Amino acid sequence: MSLENIKHITLVLSGKGGVGKSSVTTQLALTLSLQGYSVGVLDVDLTGPSIPRFFRIESSKVRQAPGGWVPVPVHEASKESEEQNGNEHIDSTNGQSHGHGALYCMSLGFLLANRGDAVVWRGPKKTAMVRQFLSDVHWGALDYLLIDTPPGTSDEHISLVETLLKQATPAQLSGAVIVTTPQAISISDVKKEINFCRKVGVKVLGVIENMAGFVCPNCSECSNIFSKGGGKVMAQEFDVPFLGSVPLDPMFSRLIEEGKRPFYPEGTVVDGKQMQTKDDLLETGTLVQNYTACSLFPLFDGMVKELVKTING
Ligand SMILES: Nc1ncnc2c1ncn2[C@@H]1O[C@H](COP(=O)(O)OP(=O)(O)O)[C@@H](O)[C@H]1O
Ligand code: SF4
Ligand SMILES: [Mg+2]
Repeated sequence: MSLENIKHITLVLSGKGGVGKSSVTTQLALTLSLQGYSVGVLDVDLTGPSIPRFFRIESSKVRQAPGGWVPVPVHEASKESEEQNGNEHIDSTNGQSHGHGALYCMSLGFLLANRGDAVVWRGPKKTAMVRQFLSDVHWGALDYLLIDTPPGTSDEHISLVETLLKQATPAQLSGAVIVTTPQAISISDVKKEINFCRKVGVKVLGVIENMAGFVCPNCSECSNIFSKGGGKVMAQEFDVPFLGSVPLDPMFSRLIEEGKRPFYPEGTVVDGKQMQTKDDLLETGTLVQNYTACSLFPLFDGMVKELVKTING
């Protein structure tokens, strides 16, 4: 079975589209990799598969192998990381390179002839595709598999998650991360997500509030007062862990769209950390290397450490 050698499977959910579910999935994956773990990303958003775009591997093709598909590599494990063997006590923010774990992706986007092709499949065909994604991908041994799901909590989603649950063992399925925005934090929106998880028997690992605040690319004035939204209060109210708030950072979009390493106006401080300026700019590296310069990386680094702790009990 293709999921057999995967230690932890985590779903990323949101009630609405456009709140940043795929960008959160991408950053969780890059950060886990930077902490030395081997990671797979499965994109089961069949109507808007955006994982190939986020990892800048849109022109890659999935290879057929006996009995299934070979996922597309974003990068292989670095040497240092292999020596450390996915070791837990990696401090990825102290500026030293500790290497990174391998990162692979699977998405319907790799199988469509034309990226723009919208898929208007009905329920049963979608369910069959999801089942195939879960049984026919040669992931190999992974520490974490992140699943980017379509937005919503309809009956179709319930059947989708039930299919996922059938293919994985309860020990493998660690739970779900819920992504929301300050606007969507309205009680009803998040409540729906939490009820959905309870209904299908998936543990809520935590809520991430995305698009809370703004890291301005023009001057440091407003970025330094990046305030956390109402996410924490909301999470307490529903008795689920709050992982953190993530501001909008145009440098993150630029990294995804153009592959360029982020830099910030002199004096930009996000969450107590000084950001790199144009003068510190290093030569352009790989996506994972460039992501370490993004203002969102230290935030994700902290959230992922929390998540790993929660998952490992
Ligand atoms: N924190 C952020 N900073 C900058 N851009 C973001 C951020 N979160 C999301 N975006 C951008 O917003 C758009 C929608 O996000 P996406 O992750 O595709 O949402 P979803 O998967 O929930 O539909 C994308 O173009 C993405 O790059
Ligand atoms: S950070 Fe500076 S340039 Fe950006 S919105 Fe605030 S005052 Fe304007
Ligand atoms: Mg998406």
